[in-house]
Amino acid sequence: MNYREFGRTGWQVSEISFGAWAIGADWGNVQKDDAIAALHTALDEGVNLFDTADAYGDGRSEKLLAQLKRERSEDFYIITKVGRRLNPHTADGYNRENITRFVERSLKNLETDTLDLVQLHCPPTDVYYRPEVFGVLDNLVQAGKIRYYGVSVEKVEEALKAIEYPNVQSVQIIFNIFRQRPSELFFREAQRRKVGVLARVPLSSGMLTGKFSNASIFGKDDHRQYNRHGEAFDVGETFSGVDYDLSLEAVEQLRAFVPEGMSMAQFALRWILMFDAVSCTIPGAKNPEQARANAQAARLAPFSQEIMSRVQRVYETLIKEETHHLW
Ligand SMILES: NC(=O)c1ccc[n+]([C@@H]2O[C@H](COP(=O)([O-])OP(=O)(O)OC[C@H]3O[C@@H](n4cnc5c(N)ncnc54)[C@H](OP(=O)(O)O)[C@@H]3O)[C@@H](O)[C@H]2O)c1
Repeated sequence: MNYREFGRTGWQVSEISFGAWAIGADWGNVQKDDAIAALHTALDEGVNLFDTADAYGDGRSEKLLAQLKRERSEDFYIITKVGRRLNPHTADGYNRENITRFVERSLKNLETDTLDLVQLHCPPTDVYYRPEVFGVLDNLVQAGKIRYYGVSVEKVEEALKAIEYPNVQSVQIIFNIFRQRPSELFFREAQRRKVGVLARVPLSSGMLTGKFSNASIFGKDDHRQYNRHGEAFDVGETFSGVDYDLSLEAVEQLRAFVPEGMSMAQFALRWILMFDAVSCTIPGAKNPEQARANAQAARLAPFSQEIMSRVQRVYETLIKEETHHLW
Protein backbone atom coordinates (compact mmCIF):
# COMPACT_ATOMS: atom_id res chain seq x y z
CA MET A 1 0.00 0.00 0.00
CA ASN A 2 1.09 3.58 -0.59
CA TYR A 3 0.01 6.47 1.59
CA ARG A 4 -0.79 10.06 0.66
CA GLU A 5 -1.19 13.30 2.57
CA PHE A 6 -4.75 14.03 3.57
CA GLY A 7 -5.12 17.78 3.23
CA ARG A 8 -3.90 19.72 6.25
CA THR A 9 -4.80 17.05 8.81
CA GLY A 10 -1.31 15.56 9.03
CA TRP A 11 -2.84 12.15 8.25
CA GLN A 12 -1.20 9.79 5.80
CA VAL A 13 -4.02 7.78 4.25
CA SER A 14 -3.94 4.63 2.14
CA GLU A 15 -4.39 5.64 -1.49
CA ILE A 16 -6.86 2.78 -1.83
CA SER A 17 -9.16 3.15 1.14
CA PHE A 18 -12.54 1.50 1.80
CA GLY A 19 -16.12 2.59 1.04
CA ALA A 20 -18.50 1.07 3.57
CA TRP A 21 -21.86 1.83 1.96
CA ALA A 22 -22.51 -1.62 0.45
CA ILE A 23 -21.86 -3.40 3.75
CA GLY A 24 -24.54 -1.19 5.29
CA ALA A 25 -27.44 -1.46 2.82
CA ASP A 26 -28.82 -0.50 -0.61
CA TRP A 27 -26.70 -3.02 -2.56
CA GLY A 28 -28.65 -6.20 -1.89
CA ASN A 29 -28.08 -8.34 1.17
CA VAL A 30 -24.50 -8.54 2.46
CA GLN A 31 -24.02 -11.11 5.24
CA LYS A 32 -22.42 -9.78 8.41
CA ASP A 33 -19.62 -12.35 8.23
CA ASP A 34 -18.71 -11.28 4.69
CA ALA A 35 -18.80 -7.62 5.67
CA ILE A 36 -16.54 -8.11 8.70
CA ALA A 37 -14.17 -10.31 6.69
CA ALA A 38 -13.97 -7.65 3.98
CA LEU A 39 -13.02 -5.02 6.58
CA HIS A 40 -10.34 -7.26 8.15
CA THR A 41 -8.90 -8.04 4.74
CA ALA A 42 -8.72 -4.36 3.84
CA LEU A 43 -6.75 -3.68 7.04
CA ASP A 44 -4.46 -6.63 6.31
CA GLU A 45 -3.74 -5.06 2.92
CA GLY A 46 -2.71 -1.75 4.50
CA VAL A 47 -5.98 0.18 4.13
CA ASN A 48 -6.15 2.72 6.97
CA LEU A 49 -9.24 4.80 6.14
CA PHE A 50 -12.86 3.66 6.08
CA ASP A 51 -15.64 5.87 4.80
CA THR A 52 -19.10 5.33 6.26
CA ALA A 53 -22.29 7.27 7.08
CA ASP A 54 -24.93 7.24 9.77
CA ALA A 55 -27.48 6.49 7.07
CA TYR A 56 -25.81 3.34 5.65
CA GLY A 57 -28.16 0.66 6.92
CA ASP A 58 -29.30 3.26 9.48
CA GLY A 59 -26.12 2.72 11.53
CA ARG A 60 -25.28 -0.86 10.50
CA SER A 61 -22.16 0.20 8.61
CA GLU A 62 -20.90 2.32 11.52
CA LYS A 63 -21.51 -0.51 13.97
CA LEU A 64 -19.56 -2.97 11.82
CA LEU A 65 -16.64 -0.55 11.89
CA ALA A 66 -16.92 -0.28 15.68
CA GLN A 67 -16.65 -4.06 15.80
CA LEU A 68 -13.56 -3.93 13.57
CA LYS A 69 -11.98 -1.47 15.99
CA ARG A 70 -12.68 -3.81 18.90
CA GLU A 71 -11.15 -6.75 17.05
CA ARG A 72 -7.95 -5.04 15.87
CA SER A 73 -5.19 -3.23 17.68
CA GLU A 74 -3.73 -1.08 14.91
CA ASP A 75 -4.79 2.54 14.34
CA PHE A 76 -7.02 3.48 11.43
CA TYR A 77 -9.34 6.33 10.50
CA ILE A 78 -13.10 6.05 10.35
CA ILE A 79 -14.76 8.97 8.64
CA THR A 80 -18.51 9.26 8.69
CA LYS A 81 -21.28 11.48 7.33
CA VAL A 82 -24.38 13.13 8.69
CA GLY A 83 -27.50 14.65 7.20
CA ARG A 84 -29.14 11.93 5.17
CA ARG A 85 -31.32 10.74 8.03
CA LEU A 86 -33.25 14.00 7.70
CA ASN A 87 -36.73 13.46 6.33
CA PRO A 88 -37.49 15.63 4.51
CA HIS A 89 -33.90 16.25 3.50
CA THR A 90 -33.85 20.06 3.49
CA ALA A 91 -31.26 22.79 3.98
CA ASP A 92 -33.13 23.96 7.09
CA GLY A 93 -32.60 20.51 8.59
CA TYR A 94 -28.86 21.19 8.73
CA ASN A 95 -29.19 23.15 11.98
CA ARG A 96 -27.34 23.02 15.29
CA GLU A 97 -29.82 20.76 17.01
CA ASN A 98 -29.96 18.13 14.27
CA ILE A 99 -26.24 18.09 13.46
CA THR A 100 -25.38 17.75 17.14
CA ARG A 101 -27.92 14.95 17.55
CA PHE A 102 -26.53 13.09 14.52
CA VAL A 103 -22.95 13.45 15.75
CA GLU A 104 -23.92 12.13 19.19
CA ARG A 105 -25.55 9.09 17.56
CA SER A 106 -22.47 8.38 15.41
CA LEU A 107 -20.27 8.66 18.51
CA LYS A 108 -22.41 5.97 20.09
CA ASN A 109 -22.48 3.75 16.99
CA LEU A 110 -18.73 4.03 16.59
CA GLU A 111 -18.10 3.57 20.33
CA THR A 112 -15.81 6.55 20.63
CA ASP A 113 -15.56 9.97 22.33
CA THR A 114 -14.32 11.83 19.24
CA LEU A 115 -15.12 11.22 15.58
CA ASP A 116 -12.06 11.39 13.31
CA LEU A 117 -13.86 13.35 10.60
CA VAL A 118 -17.49 14.14 9.83
CA GLN A 119 -18.73 15.00 6.36
CA LEU A 120 -21.97 16.73 5.45
CA HIS A 121 -23.69 14.05 3.38
CA CYS A 122 -24.52 15.64 0.01
CA PRO A 123 -26.68 18.37 1.51
CA PRO A 124 -28.90 20.58 -0.66
CA THR A 125 -26.79 23.21 -2.49
CA ASP A 126 -28.19 25.95 -0.27
CA VAL A 127 -26.30 24.59 2.74
CA TYR A 128 -22.99 25.70 1.23
CA TYR A 129 -24.27 29.27 1.37
CA ARG A 130 -24.99 29.10 5.11
CA PRO A 131 -21.83 29.89 7.08
CA GLU A 132 -23.69 29.12 10.30
CA VAL A 133 -23.70 25.41 9.39
CA PHE A 134 -19.91 25.43 9.25
CA GLY A 135 -19.93 27.42 12.51
CA VAL A 136 -21.81 24.53 14.15
CA LEU A 137 -19.12 22.14 12.92
CA ASP A 138 -16.40 24.47 14.28
CA ASN A 139 -18.14 24.37 17.66
CA LEU A 140 -18.22 20.57 17.59
CA VAL A 141 -14.47 20.54 16.94
CA GLN A 142 -13.95 22.94 19.86
CA ALA A 143 -16.09 20.71 22.07
CA GLY A 144 -13.89 17.72 21.16
CA LYS A 145 -16.76 15.77 19.60
CA ILE A 146 -15.13 15.73 16.16
CA ARG A 147 -11.49 16.10 15.18
CA TYR A 148 -12.05 17.42 11.65
CA TYR A 149 -14.87 18.01 9.20
CA GLY A 150 -15.39 17.95 5.45
CA VAL A 151 -18.12 17.62 2.86
CA SER A 152 -19.39 15.04 0.45
CA VAL A 153 -20.74 16.79 -2.62
CA GLU A 154 -22.68 16.03 -5.79
CA LYS A 155 -21.37 18.87 -7.95
CA VAL A 156 -18.03 20.51 -8.69
CA GLU A 157 -19.62 23.90 -7.97
CA GLU A 158 -20.57 22.77 -4.47
CA ALA A 159 -17.02 21.54 -3.89
CA LEU A 160 -15.57 24.89 -4.97
CA LYS A 161 -17.95 26.76 -2.66
CA ALA A 162 -17.32 24.41 0.28
CA ILE A 163 -13.55 24.87 0.25
CA GLU A 164 -13.95 28.59 0.74
CA TYR A 165 -14.68 27.70 4.37
CA PRO A 166 -11.22 27.59 5.93
CA ASN A 167 -11.81 24.57 8.17
CA VAL A 168 -13.20 22.25 5.53
CA GLN A 169 -10.48 19.62 5.47
CA SER A 170 -11.79 17.27 2.80
CA VAL A 171 -14.11 16.93 -0.15
CA GLN A 172 -15.59 13.64 -1.25
CA ILE A 173 -16.70 13.67 -4.89
CA ILE A 174 -17.52 11.19 -7.65
CA PHE A 175 -14.42 10.77 -9.79
CA ASN A 176 -13.81 7.88 -12.15
CA ILE A 177 -13.17 7.12 -15.83
CA PHE A 178 -16.79 8.08 -16.56
CA ARG A 179 -16.82 11.19 -14.35
CA GLN A 180 -13.87 13.39 -15.17
CA ARG A 181 -14.93 16.99 -14.62
CA PRO A 182 -13.48 17.22 -11.07
CA SER A 183 -9.99 16.92 -12.57
CA GLU A 184 -10.32 20.30 -14.23
CA LEU A 185 -10.70 23.34 -11.99
CA PHE A 186 -11.63 21.59 -8.75
CA PHE A 187 -8.49 19.47 -8.38
CA ARG A 188 -6.30 22.54 -8.93
CA GLU A 189 -8.18 24.51 -6.29
CA ALA A 190 -8.14 21.63 -3.81
CA GLN A 191 -4.38 21.31 -4.20
CA ARG A 192 -3.88 25.05 -3.85
CA ARG A 193 -5.83 25.07 -0.58
CA LYS A 194 -4.43 21.73 0.62
CA VAL A 195 -7.81 20.06 0.89
CA GLY A 196 -8.03 16.25 1.05
CA VAL A 197 -9.90 14.67 -1.87
CA LEU A 198 -11.73 11.35 -1.65
CA ALA A 199 -12.67 9.89 -5.04
CA ARG A 200 -15.90 7.99 -4.57
CA VAL A 201 -17.85 5.60 -6.83
CA PRO A 202 -14.49 4.71 -8.45
CA LEU A 203 -15.88 1.63 -10.17
CA SER A 204 -19.00 3.44 -11.38
CA SER A 205 -21.09 1.20 -9.09
CA GLY A 206 -19.27 -1.90 -10.32
CA MET A 207 -19.72 -1.14 -14.03
CA LEU A 208 -15.98 -0.48 -14.46
CA THR A 209 -15.16 -3.98 -13.24
CA GLY A 210 -16.31 -5.12 -16.69
CA LYS A 211 -18.52 -7.87 -15.24
CA PHE A 212 -21.94 -6.59 -16.31
CA SER A 213 -23.90 -7.20 -19.51
CA ASN A 214 -27.35 -6.61 -20.96
CA ALA A 215 -28.48 -9.70 -19.10
CA SER A 216 -27.29 -8.62 -15.61
CA ILE A 217 -30.05 -8.58 -13.02
CA PHE A 218 -30.01 -6.53 -9.83
CA GLY A 219 -32.18 -7.21 -6.78
CA LYS A 220 -35.09 -4.99 -5.79
CA ASP A 221 -33.09 -3.78 -2.78
CA ASP A 222 -30.10 -2.78 -4.93
CA HIS A 223 -29.95 0.89 -5.98
CA ARG A 224 -28.64 -0.28 -9.35
CA GLN A 225 -32.22 -1.49 -9.84
CA TYR A 226 -34.33 1.04 -7.95
CA ASN A 227 -32.36 4.24 -8.61
CA ARG A 228 -31.47 3.71 -12.27
CA HIS A 229 -33.27 6.94 -13.14
CA GLY A 230 -32.77 8.84 -9.88
CA GLU A 231 -36.02 7.66 -8.29
CA ALA A 232 -34.60 7.57 -4.73
CA PHE A 233 -31.59 9.93 -4.75
CA ASP A 234 -29.29 11.72 -7.19
CA VAL A 235 -29.05 9.62 -10.35
CA GLY A 236 -25.33 10.38 -10.52
CA GLU A 237 -24.73 8.01 -7.57
CA THR A 238 -25.88 5.04 -9.64
CA PHE A 239 -23.56 4.07 -12.51
CA SER A 240 -22.29 7.68 -12.32
CA GLY A 241 -25.51 8.75 -14.01
CA VAL A 242 -24.35 7.29 -17.33
CA ASP A 243 -26.89 5.32 -19.35
CA TYR A 244 -26.44 1.58 -18.71
CA ASP A 245 -26.08 0.49 -22.36
CA LEU A 246 -23.74 3.36 -23.14
CA SER A 247 -21.62 2.35 -20.14
CA LEU A 248 -21.42 -1.20 -21.48
CA GLU A 249 -20.25 0.10 -24.84
CA ALA A 250 -17.53 2.23 -23.25
CA VAL A 251 -16.44 -0.68 -21.03
CA GLU A 252 -15.98 -2.87 -24.12
CA GLN A 253 -13.64 -0.27 -25.61
CA LEU A 254 -11.71 0.16 -22.35
CA ARG A 255 -11.28 -3.59 -21.94
CA ALA A 256 -8.78 -3.60 -24.81
CA PHE A 257 -6.41 -1.31 -22.87
CA VAL A 258 -6.20 -3.39 -19.69
CA PRO A 259 -2.67 -4.82 -19.39
CA GLU A 260 -2.23 -8.53 -18.80
CA GLY A 261 -2.37 -9.63 -15.18
CA MET A 262 -4.54 -6.69 -14.16
CA SER A 263 -8.29 -6.85 -13.64
CA MET A 264 -10.47 -4.19 -15.15
CA ALA A 265 -11.48 -3.03 -11.64
CA GLN A 266 -7.80 -2.56 -10.80
CA PHE A 267 -7.31 -0.69 -14.07
CA ALA A 268 -10.12 1.71 -13.13
CA LEU A 269 -8.63 2.27 -9.66
CA ARG A 270 -5.08 2.74 -10.95
CA TRP A 271 -6.38 5.33 -13.41
CA ILE A 272 -7.73 7.39 -10.49
CA LEU A 273 -4.39 7.20 -8.67
CA MET A 274 -2.73 8.88 -11.66
CA PHE A 275 -4.15 12.17 -10.31
CA ASP A 276 -2.00 13.77 -7.58
CA ALA A 277 -4.86 15.83 -6.18
CA VAL A 278 -6.61 12.62 -5.10
CA SER A 279 -5.73 11.71 -1.51
CA CYS A 280 -7.47 8.37 -1.74
CA THR A 281 -10.16 6.48 -3.53
CA ILE A 282 -12.78 4.53 -1.60
CA PRO A 283 -14.06 1.54 -3.59
CA GLY A 284 -16.90 -0.36 -1.98
CA ALA A 285 -16.36 -4.07 -1.33
CA LYS A 286 -18.82 -6.71 -0.17
CA ASN A 287 -16.43 -9.55 0.58
CA PRO A 288 -12.72 -10.21 1.27
CA GLU A 289 -11.93 -11.08 -2.36
CA GLN A 290 -13.12 -7.71 -3.62
CA ALA A 291 -11.41 -5.87 -0.75
CA ARG A 292 -8.09 -7.60 -1.46
CA ALA A 293 -8.21 -7.13 -5.24
CA ASN A 294 -9.06 -3.45 -4.86
CA ALA A 295 -6.33 -2.73 -2.30
CA GLN A 296 -3.77 -4.46 -4.49
CA ALA A 297 -4.38 -1.94 -7.29
CA ALA A 298 -2.04 0.32 -5.28
CA ARG A 299 0.85 -2.00 -6.20
CA LEU A 300 0.47 -1.48 -9.95
CA ALA A 301 2.88 0.62 -11.95
CA PRO A 302 1.71 4.04 -13.21
CA PHE A 303 0.14 4.13 -16.67
CA SER A 304 1.90 5.42 -19.74
CA GLN A 305 0.73 8.60 -21.41
CA GLU A 306 -0.46 6.38 -24.25
CA ILE A 307 -2.91 4.51 -22.01
CA MET A 308 -4.13 7.75 -20.43
CA SER A 309 -4.80 9.22 -23.88
CA ARG A 310 -6.68 6.14 -25.02
CA VAL A 311 -8.94 6.27 -21.95
CA GLN A 312 -9.44 9.96 -22.59
CA ARG A 313 -10.58 9.29 -26.14
CA VAL A 314 -13.21 6.81 -24.95
CA TYR A 315 -14.48 9.37 -22.45
CA GLU A 316 -14.57 12.15 -25.00
CA THR A 317 -16.25 10.19 -27.75
CA LEU A 318 -18.86 8.27 -25.72
CA ILE A 319 -19.46 9.79 -22.29
CA LYS A 320 -18.54 13.45 -22.15
CA GLU A 321 -21.39 14.92 -24.14
CA GLU A 322 -24.02 13.10 -22.11
CA THR A 323 -22.89 13.91 -18.57
CA HIS A 324 -19.89 16.26 -18.33
CA HIS A 325 -22.01 19.38 -17.78
CA LEU A 326 -24.34 17.82 -15.18
CA TRP A 327 -22.14 17.53 -12.12
N1 LIG B 1 -23.30 10.61 -1.19
C1 LIG B 1 -22.17 10.09 -0.79
O1 LIG B 1 -21.48 10.65 0.02
C2 LIG B 1 -21.74 8.76 -1.35
C3 LIG B 1 -22.43 8.21 -2.43
C4 LIG B 1 -21.94 7.04 -3.01
C5 LIG B 1 -20.82 6.42 -2.49
N2 LIG B 1 -20.18 6.96 -1.41
C6 LIG B 1 -18.98 6.33 -0.83
O2 LIG B 1 -18.13 5.87 -1.87
C7 LIG B 1 -17.90 4.47 -1.73
C8 LIG B 1 -17.66 3.83 -3.08
O3 LIG B 1 -18.69 4.04 -3.99
P1 LIG B 1 -19.78 2.93 -4.31
O4 LIG B 1 -19.69 1.86 -3.26
O5 LIG B 1 -21.08 3.63 -4.49
O6 LIG B 1 -19.38 2.39 -5.73
P2 LIG B 1 -18.10 1.63 -6.33
O7 LIG B 1 -16.99 1.64 -5.36
O8 LIG B 1 -17.88 2.24 -7.66
O9 LIG B 1 -18.67 0.14 -6.57
C9 LIG B 1 -18.73 -0.75 -5.50
C10 LIG B 1 -19.35 -2.06 -5.93
O10 LIG B 1 -18.66 -2.66 -7.01
C11 LIG B 1 -18.56 -4.09 -6.82
N3 LIG B 1 -17.13 -4.39 -6.67
C12 LIG B 1 -16.23 -3.77 -5.85
N4 LIG B 1 -15.00 -4.27 -6.00
C13 LIG B 1 -15.08 -5.23 -6.94
C14 LIG B 1 -14.14 -6.10 -7.52
N5 LIG B 1 -12.85 -6.06 -7.19
N6 LIG B 1 -14.57 -6.98 -8.47
C15 LIG B 1 -15.86 -7.02 -8.83
N7 LIG B 1 -16.81 -6.22 -8.31
C16 LIG B 1 -16.43 -5.33 -7.37
C17 LIG B 1 -19.36 -4.41 -5.56
O11 LIG B 1 -20.74 -4.67 -5.87
P3 LIG B 1 -21.26 -6.02 -6.58
O12 LIG B 1 -20.33 -7.13 -6.20
O13 LIG B 1 -22.66 -6.21 -6.09
O14 LIG B 1 -21.25 -5.71 -8.05
C18 LIG B 1 -19.29 -3.09 -4.81
O15 LIG B 1 -20.32 -2.91 -3.90
C19 LIG B 1 -19.16 3.99 -0.98
O16 LIG B 1 -19.00 2.72 -0.40
C20 LIG B 1 -19.33 5.11 0.02
O17 LIG B 1 -18.40 4.97 1.08
C21 LIG B 1 -20.62 8.12 -0.85
